[in-house]
Amino acid sequence: MSAVQREIVTPAEARDALLSQVDDRLRGLLAAETSRWSAVDPRAAVPVEAVAALIASGGKRLRPAFCLSGFLSAGGDPAWEPVAVDAAAALEFLHAFALLHDDVLDDSPLRRGETTAHERHASVHRAAGWAGEPRRFGEGVAALAGDLAHIYADRLVSALAPAAREIWHELRTEVIIGQYLDIRVAAERIADPELSRWIAICKSGRYTVHRPLVLGASIAGRQDLTPAFTRYGAALGEAFQLRDDLIDAFGDSAVSGKPTGLDFSQQKMTLLVTLAMRRDDRVSRVLAGQSGDGAGDGATLAQIVTDLNVRGEVERRIDHLVEQAQAAIAAAPLDLEWRDELARVAVETAYRQK
Ligand code: IPE
Ligand code: IPE
Ligand code: MG
Ligand code: MG
Ligand code: MG
Repeated sequence: MSAVQREIVTPAEARDALLSQVDDRLRGLLAAETSRWSAVDPRAAVPVEAVAALIASGGKRLRPAFCLSGFLSAGGDPAWEPVAVDAAAALEFLHAFALLHDDVLDDSPLRRGETTAHERHASVHRAAGWAGEPRRFGEGVAALAGDLAHIYADRLVSALAPAAREIWHELRTEVIIGQYLDIRVAAERIADPELSRWIAICKSGRYTVHRPLVLGASIAGRQDLTPAFTRYGAALGEAFQLRDDLIDAFGDSAVSGKPTGLDFSQQKMTLLVTLAMRRDDRVSRVLAGQSGDGAGDGATLAQIVTDLNVRGEVERRIDHLVEQAQAAIAAAPLDLEWRDELARVAVETAYRQK
């Protein structure tokens, strides 16, 4: 898109035009990889196809959208658009990597309304009667497909300048440390609301909102936007994950495309649960399966969390975070139309149904 064209389109239209290039980039790279490895042996393309299936199953493409918003709102030079598009596509591949591994970590059967990769490949193994354990095979395929997605992500950031590359390294490190803390704190059942918040930020908020925006601005050469995007992204990133936790607990699986109540059954120490544990001993007993309701009984826990008004408290925290994000963006050195767009996106992201 030329600079002249960009003047006559809205921020959302400019971003969406680049987002469709991101999808082309994802599909193009996967098609080339599929045909290259299929030529070696049809089996060799299976991990690529697992990545492609996840990418094709949709998703909101939030991380590419925030990266491109960072770039465009910063007035990025059209000559740098291909680099921004590649970085945005890299973020979606990184997300695919995180999801493939996350569904193994969380033992989830459903993602974007479809059977998860590890479950699908365990079923293939079982149906074919191959040697070894179906579950180990399925999880092996998902681990390898995730690694492949991570490599594709890395390939797409090769043109980044050193400062932008630092942001990339930081965000992918954060995801992994955050994911470890998520399973560790669940295993130890540590009821610390501050730690829960930190984990939400580290495993999710950073790589979803905060760092993609800063990365996009960095590609545009606007490091001066880092403080404003950090304030906006830190608040909205946390709100994004708190909403994800609420969708897990109370959402509709037919809408979210993910199981409802999985965090309860996995004993995840979300802010919702840790606040409830601090308030009522029943929560720990239900989580431990000592209440006669079954371990992590989702419906019982959802009811307790609602009765204790913890659900309302998390909703109020989201409201507060959205206000913080909007205040940060209102004060940012950006065009008015971009400030309005990012304020609107904050509401859309924090109050989504899926
Ligand atoms: C899900 O992210 C994983 C988390 C970080 C919570 P999204 O809610 O962005 O998932 P998709 O990409 O839209 O499916
Ligand atoms: C996962 O958080 C975050 C990453 C994928 C890094 P969740 O486990 O809450 O994500 P969902 O709910 O399965 O999408
Ligand atoms: Mg999960
Ligand atoms: Mg998880
Ligand atoms: Mg979740």
